[in-house]
Amino acid sequence: MKKTTSVLLSALVALGMMSTAANAEIKKGQKGYLKKCKKCHGNGTKGAAMKTQGEWEALFANDAANFIADHKGTKAEKFVNGKKFKKLAPHLKDFLWEYGSDSGNVPSCG
Ligand code: HEC
Repeated sequence: MKKTTSVLLSALVALGMMSTAANAEIKKGQKGYLKKCKKCHGNGTKGAAMKTQGEWEALFANDAANFIADHKGTKAEKFVNGKKFKKLAPHLKDFLWEYGSDSGNVPSCG
C-alpha cells in the first residue's frame, strides 16, 4: 500500500516536471515570436493561427527548411538563415504548434 502510494506520487511528480518543462519551451517560443515575428505577422494568437498543427510540423521539419523557404526574398530572410533562428526554431515551433489554428488553445497573453 505504502509502496503503491510512493510510486504513484513519483509518477505524478515526474509528470508535473514534464509539463513544466514543456511550458517553459512554449514560453520561450512565445517570447521569441513577440521579439522576432510580431512586427510582420501580428500578435502571437494571430501568428500561431496562421497554420494548423500539421502545417507547423511541416514548416519546421528538416531544420525548418520550408519555413526558411517561405521567407526567401522577404526582409526576414537574413534572420531565418542565421544562428539565432536556428536556436530559437524548436521553441518557436513548440509555441506555434501549441496554439495552431486547430489546437483549440489560445495563448494567455501576447
Ligand atoms: C520582415 C518581416 C517578417 C518577419 C520578421 C517574419 N516574417 Fe513570416 N513572412 C513574411 C513575408 C513577407 C512572408 C511571405 C508572404 C506571406 O505569405 O505572408 C512570410 C511568410 C510566413 C509564413 C507562411 C505564410 C503562408 O501563408 O504560407 C509563415 C507561417 C510565417 N511567415 C511565420 C513567421 C514567423 C513564425 C516568424 C518569426 C520567426 C516570421 N514569420 C518572421 C514576413 C516576415
